[in-house]
Amino acid sequence: MHCVIIGASRGLGAALAEACLKNRDFSVIGIGRTAPEDIPDLGGWAETGRFQYFQADITTPNGSAILHSVSSLLPDQPACVIMNAAVIESDLAEDGTFLIDAYDRVNDAGIAGLGRVIDAFGEHLTRFKGVFVGISSLSALAPPFLDKRIAYPASKAFMTMALRSLRLVWKDRVRIMTVFPGYIGSSRPVRGFTWLAPTYRTVARKIVRKIQGKRVPHTLLIPLPVGLIYRLFSILPDGLYFWAAGKIEAHARSDGERGRRQ
Ligand SMILES: NC(=O)c1ccc[n+]([C@@H]2O[C@H](COP(=O)([O-])OP(=O)(O)OC[C@H]3O[C@@H](n4cnc5c(N)ncnc54)[C@H](OP(=O)(O)O)[C@@H]3O)[C@@H](O)[C@H]2O)c1
Repeated sequence: MHCVIIGASRGLGAALAEACLKNRDFSVIGIGRTAPEDIPDLGGWAETGRFQYFQADITTPNGSAILHSVSSLLPDQPACVIMNAAVIESDLAEDGTFLIDAYDRVNDAGIAGLGRVIDAFGEHLTRFKGVFVGISSLSALAPPFLDKRIAYPASKAFMTMALRSLRLVWKDRVRIMTVFPGYIGSSRPVRGFTWLAPTYRTVARKIVRKIQGKRVPHTLLIPLPVGLIYRLFSILPDGLYFWAAGKIEAHARSDGERGRRQ
């Protein structure tokens, strides 16, 4: 199967490329703005003979044209497209000031970029019965409290609803999976909460295992217990949710201070 990973240059996208390439049945096409020579693992991936990389910015018309040409390269077979690209940036300064430029960058990649990806690959996917994976976030389900921001969770909520709506239209022609990761690849996990932060590799392996499986689930919560807690948060009244979030935030702050003193 050909797997197109939008946002393959680093982080989860790079781990997904690696996890896919472990299976000889997979060929991978990676997309990202980073120049190929600046992607450390690219040489090793290319050596498999099953990896190609296209430098493209999905927020631009030129990037859109590149996505269309990548789509035309796909063989007349089911393919998998993973929309992993996102700008993870806060649009609120420390003092709460709203930062419109950051807000635009996040929405351009997460909302307009998603549209360009659907536009480029939708026809191929519906014609040859493919898989579309959207990497959302648990912050699509409840407002983030440790890193306060507006556009990022909202753009993930947009993706989540866009894919639910697409499922109704694409029906059984395209299997759609929305992935809701929590915090990934933490370099400084909060003491007592390390189980909350799986690595990129662990998350990527879980996703690829689901893509390879016979039944691609509609949603994938990673890690599951945290996902279930977030599902609960999403139905709690905001006041109760913000109270619980405040308790966790206070624990994280005191843990950070203790870490700095040691
Ligand atoms: N890290 C977490 O804790 C976490 C938690 C929940 C969900 N997620 C989601 O998981 C996904 C991966 O996260 P990550 O931590 O790996 O993020 P990351 O390290 O910032 O990687 C984002 C990827 O998106 C690509 N990208 C961004 N803007 C792009 C554009 N305009 N055109 C093409 N590619 C673009 C980047 O490549 P270039 O810079 O080369 O363009 C990069 O490969 C994201 O969708 C994120 O929202 C992450």
